[in-house]
Amino acid sequence: MRKQIAAANWKMNLTYQQGETLTDELLDNEYSLKENHEVVFGVPFPYLGMVAGKTANKKGFYVAAQNCSNKKSGAYTGETSVEMLSSLHIQYVIIGHSERREYFNESDQMLAEKVNLALDFGLTPIFCCGEPLAIREAENQNEFVEVQLQESLFHLSAEQLKKIVIAYEPIWAIGTGKTASSQQAQEMHAHLRSVLAAKFTNEVADEISILYGGSVKAANAVEIFGMPDVDGGLVGGASLVAAEFAAIIRALK
Ligand code: PGA
Repeated sequence: MRKQIAAANWKMNLTYQQGETLTDELLDNEYSLKENHEVVFGVPFPYLGMVAGKTANKKGFYVAAQNCSNKKSGAYTGETSVEMLSSLHIQYVIIGHSERREYFNESDQMLAEKVNLALDFGLTPIFCCGEPLAIREAENQNEFVEVQLQESLFHLSAEQLKKIVIAYEPIWAIGTGKTASSQQAQEMHAHLRSVLAAKFTNEVADEISILYGGSVKAANAVEIFGMPDVDGGLVGGASLVAAEFAAIIRALK
C-alpha cells in the first residue's frame, strides 16, 4: 500500500524556541496513524537535531531537511551535505522546491545530482515539481511537469525510483491561498503516475507516493487527500499552526 504522508515545510520561519513549542504541541496530540501513514517535519537546518530527538521514538514521525548540497563534501562554505544529514539520522530531504529553483537557480541537472546523493546515503528525496501560472494558463502544465521528472528522475533504476516521494506543487498555488481544485490535483497526479508507468512500469508507478502542495489547510485537506492519486500533502503556511497541521495529519486517508 502506498504511503500517505503529511509533510510540513516550515521554510525560513520560526525561532528555535517557537519550533520546539510547535513540535511539542504536535507530538502531544493523538492521531491514530495507520500503518502506511507518515508525518514528516521539514525544518530549518539548525533545528534538525532538536526535532529528530523529539520524534526519534514516535512511530510514524520523521524529519526532513529542506535542501541539501549537490556536492558530496569539500570546500563549499555554507553548504550542508547529505552525508551530514544522514549522520544526524535525518530520513527525508526536500529536493527541488520551486523557491529553490527560482531564487537559487537550481537546475534540473543539479537536482538530479542531489537526488543521486540522497539515495546513495539512504535518505528519501521528496522531489518537488510544478508549473508557474503562465504555463497553466497556456494549458501546457502536463508537458512542463513531465520534463521536470524526465530531467531529474528518469536516469534512476526502477528500484531507486521506488524510494522517491514526489510532491506536485503548482507554483500559482504556493502561499497564495489559491488551491488547485481537488479535480485539478487529481488530474495532474494521475498524469504524473501515467508518465512514471510509461517510463518504468505500472507496478512501480503505483507504489510512488505523490503529495499535493499549495495552500493545503485543515479546511481543504480531507477533500484533496481524498482524491485517489493524492497521497497526502506538502504543507507550508498551515504547518506553522499546531491545530491546523494536526487536522491535516488527521485528514490522511
Ligand atoms: P503553502 O506552501 O502551503 O504555504 O502554499 C507549500 C509549499 O511551498 O511547500
